[in-house]
Amino acid sequence: MQPPYLQLKNVGLTYEQEQKETIRQFSLDIKKGEFISIIGKSGCGKTSLLQIISGIQKPTTGLISIGSQEVNEPVDELSYIFQKPILLEWKTVLENVVLPIELKRKLTEKDMYKAKEMLESVGLSDAIHKFPYECSGGMQSRVAIVRALIEQPSILLMDEPFSALDSFTKNQLHVQLNHLINAYKPTVVLVTHDLQEAFFLSDRIVLLGGEPGTLLQEYQVPFPRPRKKNMLISQKFYDFQQDIIERLHL
Ligand SMILES: Nc1ncnc2c1ncn2[C@@H]1O[C@H](COP(=O)(O)OP(=O)(O)OP(=O)(O)O)[C@@H](O)[C@H]1O
Ligand SMILES: [Mg+2]
Repeated sequence: MQPPYLQLKNVGLTYEQEQKETIRQFSLDIKKGEFISIIGKSGCGKTSLLQIISGIQKPTTGLISIGSQEVNEPVDELSYIFQKPILLEWKTVLENVVLPIELKRKLTEKDMYKAKEMLESVGLSDAIHKFPYECSGGMQSRVAIVRALIEQPSILLMDEPFSALDSFTKNQLHVQLNHLINAYKPTVVLVTHDLQEAFFLSDRIVLLGGEPGTLLQEYQVPFPRPRKKNMLISQKFYDFQQDIIERLHL
């Protein structure tokens, strides 16, 4: 059996200002290359958990390890996509994508070629010289995804990256994201409220809930890759939704 790559052991969090336990005894083993989604009601601690994994937020109890190395500070081999695609307004799409590399070293022809190739793979070859204000919300989200993957991070964290988009754009992005993930094979933790999104993209789904938030249930998604959207009209997806509704008392 493959050993865990990213491990959360008995993670607990109490924000000092609140003096209220936000997360309690959360444990999860994630394999290298696995795609995990975390779902749960608003305020249950999903973003806090992502911040703990990234090393931005220190847990009050428990520990995080990546490749058996304990995480004590922000992790380098990790990319984080926030809810809003934060792009620099004065830089073009291409310049935004290569920014993480530019912050570390001089850009090369190879970097530019790779960025253009990745942008093309998500249908943005005509937009590389546009500025963010000239791009739609869906286009901006794609730029943020390509930027997050340009350095081939071993871990990709995404916090509701598509929540502001309409369902057609979202559907298209899910398919494109799947292609990129298959090509670069990062270990992914996605936070989402969208059950279809979680089911279509993930290998495993984790339900976070309760007060304080803890792991309520895990679901293995029983569909092979490459995925087809018709898995969302299957009995298995229906059963999954039903279970979530019952467990969260929706
Ligand atoms: N920096 C902070 N300082 C103090 N309390 C915080 C901080 N960040 C979050 N909280 C509190 O922790 C709890 C969990 O917040 P978190 O943002 O992790 O929830 P969430 O599950 O991501 O919610 P949503 O789905 O609405 O994004 C909330 O009660 C929130 O008020
Ligand atoms: Mg959140």
